[in-house]
Amino acid sequence: MTSHYDVLIIGSGGAGLSLALKLANQATHVAVLSKFALTAGSTYYAQGGISAVFDAEDSIESHIEDTLDAGAGLCNPDIVRLTVTQGKSSIDWLRQQGVMFTEEVTASGEKILHLNREGGHSHRRIVHTADATGKAVSLSLIERASEHPNITLFEHHNVIELITCPDKSLAGKRICGAYVLDSSQQGVKTMTAKIVVLATGGASKVYLYSTNPQSATGDGIALAWRAGCRISNMEFMQFHPTCLFHPKAQSFLISEAVRGEGGKLILPDGSSFMEHFDPRAELAPRDIVARAIDHEIKKRGIDCVYLDISHKSADFIHSHFPTIYKKCLKFGIDITQQPIPVVPSAHYTCGGVLTDSYARTDISNLYAIGEVASTGLHGANRMASNSLLECLVFADRACIDILQKLALIPEPSSPPAWDDSQVIDSDEEVVVSHNWDELRHFMWDYVGIVRTDKRLHRALSRVELLKNEITEYYSHFRITSDLLELRNLVIVAELIIRCAQQRKESRGLHYTLDYPSLDNSKPPSNTILTPYK
Ligand code: FAD
Ligand code: SIN
Repeated sequence: MTSHYDVLIIGSGGAGLSLALKLANQATHVAVLSKFALTAGSTYYAQGGISAVFDAEDSIESHIEDTLDAGAGLCNPDIVRLTVTQGKSSIDWLRQQGVMFTEEVTASGEKILHLNREGGHSHRRIVHTADATGKAVSLSLIERASEHPNITLFEHHNVIELITCPDKSLAGKRICGAYVLDSSQQGVKTMTAKIVVLATGGASKVYLYSTNPQSATGDGIALAWRAGCRISNMEFMQFHPTCLFHPKAQSFLISEAVRGEGGKLILPDGSSFMEHFDPRAELAPRDIVARAIDHEIKKRGIDCVYLDISHKSADFIHSHFPTIYKKCLKFGIDITQQPIPVVPSAHYTCGGVLTDSYARTDISNLYAIGEVASTGLHGANRMASNSLLECLVFADRACIDILQKLALIPEPSSPPAWDDSQVIDSDEEVVVSHNWDELRHFMWDYVGIVRTDKRLHRALSRVELLKNEITEYYSHFRITSDLLELRNLVIVAELIIRCAQQRKESRGLHYTLDYPSLDNSKPPSNTILTPYK
């Protein structure tokens, strides 16, 4: 079965839905796919908020400077300026879509946005909806998109492969659509489109411990790589310093805003330690805080450190952090009375599909927006709450470019239907879950917060073995959603390791004991991998 759209957007998070709404208002027919429910992406789980300059004491220049500083010399300054200058208009647009942000009343009785503070930011600058900003954004955008006559939403539609046709572009092809597994019907559909947009989120599920939801398996990065796009800066996987440490709490984040409101990181004996690592202490950028915690945990042989906000009043905690309060209480931790056990966890993919300032990839008519993309905004380390801002700004940039060229693009011809006549149902699906486990374990052990040449080499040998096994399995057995994710994850793992091996220095999120300092002998450069043609 083949269906056709003007624009096929793969991903229903903040990036994908913002673009869909912007395009659909210009009478463009848009399809939005999510491999699980529409709320499956990281957007729904975002806590702290969205960075934008609203405070009278703050300035665009200061937001730019903080972003460049966190990015450790690798941000593209033009992209940083482009993004940061659109902070206010992006928040205004979200409010027009119905997102209700937390407000406060000034002494003169004026209602203004309440601003959080987070690591790396020199001012209060984070617009938020209590501690569940992503849920507010996600639900408003889904509601708007569901009502829109020009948008068709498809849940449980998992993209297997992009479809390309020959072209004169850099990669020698242009995009024509995608083959999609409809998981509810167990069938494969062909969807053609003049434009395809990857808005598939990040890849943090390549690690054993992650703050991310199940969907974050780097599919867009693997799809783009297999189709012929360059991938950049994958060594910069961000570990969030404070994920709840409890055997039954899967992937629950304790927002950086807790530290922004005075939360102290302490050791089991109650002593603080961050001041020994950075003068900004708890509010240093994430790479520094995560590395400091990792260091203390390993040095002392402890399971976790603690984050203490109990010096604040119970009223303050209930109103600022209602979600975190309730979740911790469910596990017997009353954060108004006691510190929260925390550990670092994989959180964000700073690298990804290389794009230009209009979100264009190497393949004609294929765009990438949101966490899947490497735009140059984050450099070697993303500053807190700059990600949702990037989703909104690059949805806007892609929209401008798509609307300019859409009418000029011919309808793609019908590609061949998906052929699964040569494969059979698997008789040992357990192989898939074993391989998942193995991959995530060795990525955590060898390609985590602290790396060495030897560990990276070990990881690469294992990834190569796994890749061969998975390729063989894929060629014999009928696809499932889990198999598709595993096939993508193993590619993403390889890209992370290969990028890490190319960087012979420690910079931002990439820290290696073999080269523990910055390489100042040459100008800093991005890592770019080009697929074999
Ligand atoms: P996502 O929101 O992850 O959406 C990805 C979409 O792609 C999903 O719909 C998924 O189903 C779909 N998809 C993936 N693969 C396929 C496929 N093969 N076929 C079909 N569909 C597919 N950032 C901030 O700026 N501020 C914060 O406060 C903040 N807090 C965070 C808290 C948590 C717990 C987490 C995990 C992240 C947080 N981040 C925050 C990061 C931020 O939420 C994400 O970077 C951002 O939401 C990514 O949005 P996205 O639209 O690119 O992708
Ligand atoms: C948080 O609330 O700590 C997450 C913010 C982010 O990832 O930008």
